[in-house]
Amino acid sequence: MSSTQPHLTPGLFRRACGRFATGVVVAAVLDAERRPHGLTINSFTSVSLDPPLVLICIDYRAAIFPSFRAAPYFGLSILSDQQQEISHRFATRPDDRFEGVAWREGQYAVPLIAGAVATLECRLDRLLDAGDHGIFLGEVLQASVNDGEPLVYYQGYQKLQVPHQS
Ligand SMILES: Cc1cc2nc3c(=O)[nH]c(=O)nc-3n(C[C@H](O)[C@H](O)[C@H](O)COP(=O)(O)O)c2cc1C
Repeated sequence: MSSTQPHLTPGLFRRACGRFATGVVVAAVLDAERRPHGLTINSFTSVSLDPPLVLICIDYRAAIFPSFRAAPYFGLSILSDQQQEISHRFATRPDDRFEGVAWREGQYAVPLIAGAVATLECRLDRLLDAGDHGIFLGEVLQASVNDGEPLVYYQGYQKLQVPHQS
């Protein structure tokens, strides 16, 4: 290690991780009364093709954590570049985040946001303890792909410049 290399600090760690551009996802579950709960995440990763597995990480301090742990299935909606407001709402609104938002119940009783560029319906396979977050490993049971471009998160919200083919 070079002597000029700074020691790892929380700020350096955050800045380094912040160099990784991601999409934006609303992860959501239904509770026992079939009410939808969700939060904005960017810790989504596809893990395995066979079997199809994905993971998401949720902060133990998030209000939604107990609902997520209790739910056998969770839904993931990959947001479009028209859905920045939805991302903000699902990261900040204290409650009733689905109020006034168009959504549907998937085949596996999970809330899915209308207009998302893709959706995934997952069965909770494993919950792993990882520092201040829990890793939810999900087996993907159903998916949909829709029109539109994804919302990008990189030092704030970004829109992709996708060249359109004629
Ligand atoms: C772009 C973006 C990505 C986020 N990614 C995550 C994530 O991967 N995991 C997580 O626990 N929180 C993530 N958050 C924060 C949560 O959305 C937020 O802390 C949560 O909705 C707060 O809910 P609460 O106040 O009801 O606990 C992210 C927020 C934004 C704006």
